Amino acid sequence: MTPSDQHADPAEAPPSIVLGIETSCDETAAAIVRREAAGTGSIVSSVVRAQIEAHAPYGGVVPEIAARAHVEIIDTVVSRALSEADLAFAELDGIAATAGPGLLGGVLVGLVSAKALAVAARRPFIAINHLEGHALTVGLTDAVRPPYLLLLVSGGHTQTLIVEAVGRYRLIGTTLDDALGEAFDKTAKLLGLGFPGGPAVAAAARNGRMGRISLPRPMLGRPEPHFSFAGLKTAVRQQAQALAPLSDDDIANLCVAFEDAAADVVADRVSNAMEGYVEALPGAPRSLVVAGGVAANVRLREQLATLAEENSFHLTVPPVELCTDNAAMIAWAGAERLALGETSPLDSPARARWPLDPTAEQVRGAGVKASGAALPRSLPA
Ligand code: KG4
Ligand code: ZN
Repeated sequence: MTPSDQHADPAEAPPSIVLGIETSCDETAAAIVRREAAGTGSIVSSVVRAQIEAHAPYGGVVPEIAARAHVEIIDTVVSRALSEADLAFAELDGIAATAGPGLLGGVLVGLVSAKALAVAARRPFIAINHLEGHALTVGLTDAVRPPYLLLLVSGGHTQTLIVEAVGRYRLIGTTLDDALGEAFDKTAKLLGLGFPGGPAVAAAARNGRMGRISLPRPMLGRPEPHFSFAGLKTAVRQQAQALAPLSDDDIANLCVAFEDAAADVVADRVSNAMEGYVEALPGAPRSLVVAGGVAANVRLREQLATLAEENSFHLTVPPVELCTDNAAMIAWAGAERLALGETSPLDSPARARWPLDPTAEQVRGAGVKASGAALPRSLPA
């Protein structure tokens, strides 16, 4: 990022209209947001095209299929976002795109499109970290501004972070192995529930009976702030093998037990992070924000609401459609960066890995978004 015009306080920056593009996983998305001088925001248009059918036969996101699908539809999605907003390129103050972390083939499609549009329309370009998009969404949806404690739970990341300011993130805890969304997806695949797994497991769990199956709660009560879900996933597999052939009731009972164990672990780890947050920023507002696709999970939301109440934290969870991948969050992060006077050079690279807190110690297994399914031997033409 290069500061072009420093503002003392981003809240006092002039109003702006920013186009955002998101192609880092299996959603092709474009959106336009408006940021007011006071620092609040609104969505002018938001278009998301998911690629669920294209990946469903493989039980996970296939990187090359995702990249090809982004190429085919990106122009239509961007035009739709502009026409729904009734705006022309000349009326934009900036064009932002996800530059990582994610599946590189897909990231390149959105990044190159945004750069080309920025050059053609002579508008500033802003390269955005996908995780920053998730992290700052509450500014757009609920006018919540830093500092706050963030739980980021997506298909590729499970982290607790202190959001000190736009662009200043301090990592507290991260997963030592699988991300929570990944554990949901793998559990769904194992039980034959299809893709994407999170919503499928949650739906099956609604018919399950608690207490029929007991599962471990990895890391519960541990002093270090990290997460681990690989053992939980393995325990589901072992229980499923012991019960096979699985009835619908068995599947439902396994799903409710999995969801319950996962929610218990996350609540415990967030409780640990709350201590870290209060210690790091004494006197800061006790504010907990949840972001990423797994924030759509109702059981997890309920457990976090209880935890927040017990610890006098105010909980904010964006609406479901803004928890899962979308471009409004990328446009908003772009608007926040612009308000700080920051833009990006046109040679900004695509990055498969891009931690929000580059100073944090690297932890095994953490930091790569959407590892994807195994690449099939031959791809459809
Ligand atoms: O943030 P996101 O849309 O994409 C990434 O950046 O990874 O998150 C997608 C993840 C997937 O693993 C999906 O299974 C999970 O979010 N997910 C859920 C639910 N809805 C989506 N997990 C649990 N319960 C849900 N209701
Ligand atoms: Zn995401």
